[in-house]
Amino acid sequence: MRLLLIGAPGAGKGTQAVRVAEHFGLTHISSGDLLRRHIAEETSIGRSVGAAMHRGDLVTDGIVMDVLRKPVEAASRNGGYVLDGFPRTVEQAEVAYLVARDIGASVQVAVFLDVPRPELVHRLLERGRAANRTDDTEDVITRRLRVFEEHTLPLLDYYRQREQLLKIDGARSVDEVTAALVAELEAVRHLLDG
Ligand code: AP5
Ligand code: MG
Repeated sequence: MRLLLIGAPGAGKGTQAVRVAEHFGLTHISSGDLLRRHIAEETSIGRSVGAAMHRGDLVTDGIVMDVLRKPVEAASRNGGYVLDGFPRTVEQAEVAYLVARDIGASVQVAVFLDVPRPELVHRLLERGRAANRTDDTEDVITRRLRVFEEHTLPLLDYYRQREQLLKIDGARSVDEVTAALVAELEAVRHLLDG
């Protein structure tokens, strides 16, 4: 099964991706985690994306595609993937589709984790207090939410038109969201090829 999770910052993409991957035997691939690893390891990619990520802006499409291409191809040959954080724009979705189609790696279901803004801000500020992520400050959270609304929300129409969109109420407990997600995916699993 090949899935992707769309959601605002703090919607629970990473949290749910781990659980869904475990349930269905898929590989979890997070664009943000991969980019943060490049920063931590001070690679040339890490140096070129640090400033944009620190501001809460998107990284350029070319870099994201470079970082994701191999893991997505490998996961597609090995049970499938849960992509978390990619694509983030309609342009990324279109390019990814063209690249993935010929190798049977294109996405089958796009899940939208729907969470109201006050809850998102609350979760991210909480995580910011634990100081795990340098982009969980009030200003950068505001910026990330704006970037999401402007650049990523249009993706919902893109996948809705392709009849691939599954909307999940993400404003419940972690366990409740996982249960809903797994139930919905179990229900459509037999319709998906490969
Ligand atoms: P990325 O790493 O994708 O961050 P994000 O989209 O801002 O989302 P988060 O990781 O903050 O939230 P999440 O939805 O994963 O929620 P989580 O499970 O952690 O991207 C970071 C940056 O990388 C971008 O700003 C950009 O610069 C760059 N980038 C990445 N991909 C890119 C791309 N494709 N193109 C261009 N640039 C790209 O949960 C959040 C918190 O809430 C946690 O503390 C969690 O414990 C808690 N929580 C989760 N679920 C619940 C629940 N149900 N109830 C209560 N608390 C919950
Ligand atoms: Mg995440």
